[in-house]
Amino acid sequence: MATILGISGSLRGGSFNSALLRAASGVLPAGTELQIGTIKGIPLYDGDVEAAQGLPAAVERLKAQMIAADGVLLVTPEYNNSLPGVFKNAIDWLSRPAADIPRVFGGRKFAVIGASQGGFGTILSQTAWLPVLKTLGTNPWFGARLQVSRASNVFDASGELGAAQVREQLAKFMAGFAAFCA
Ligand SMILES: Cc1cc2nc3c(=O)[nH]c(=O)nc-3n(C[C@H](O)[C@H](O)[C@H](O)COP(=O)(O)O)c2cc1C
Repeated sequence: MATILGISGSLRGGSFNSALLRAASGVLPAGTELQIGTIKGIPLYDGDVEAAQGLPAAVERLKAQMIAADGVLLVTPEYNNSLPGVFKNAIDWLSRPAADIPRVFGGRKFAVIGASQGGFGTILSQTAWLPVLKTLGTNPWFGARLQVSRASNVFDASGELGAAQVREQLAKFMAGFAAFCA
């Protein structure tokens, strides 16, 4: 039995990355639970706010979900050939206070997938996450890759994953990551 926390790095209602995360819920191997976390409501990191008020409620919630999970799936968009600031901002908040990093991230299993409109399907964004995952002492899974390119051809207007080949790749990815997390 593995519990995976999935987080989409997009705030957009019609986000392809949020749609990809929802699609992952439908292709899980038996005995795997996928919880959907959110970065919505997390303010920009401000050390003064942290010093005066501690962590915002949205950060505390996501942090608690992460601590309870066997593995974390980051579903990342790509902005300007790198990772989105809003997503990195959320992870930065989760890394506070620094004394909590071993408890929240240390040795925790992580995987990264993503969808973009471009032809390379978040390859540069996924690569940009690597130093972050390394710095935080996570245990990343590299057993498969999933880079969904030309996302508007893959999801329909309601965000359903229509492409059978991508669904198959997603199922294989989730099976591999779930086995790693179990
Ligand atoms: C600021 C910005 C930069 C972008 N840069 C890239 C990029 O480097 N590569 C790419 O494939 N798509 C890029 N895009 C297009 C995104 O892939 C597209 O907006 C996608 O829908 C974002 O993910 P989402 O649907 O989950 O919000 C960019 C979009 C924005 C808003």
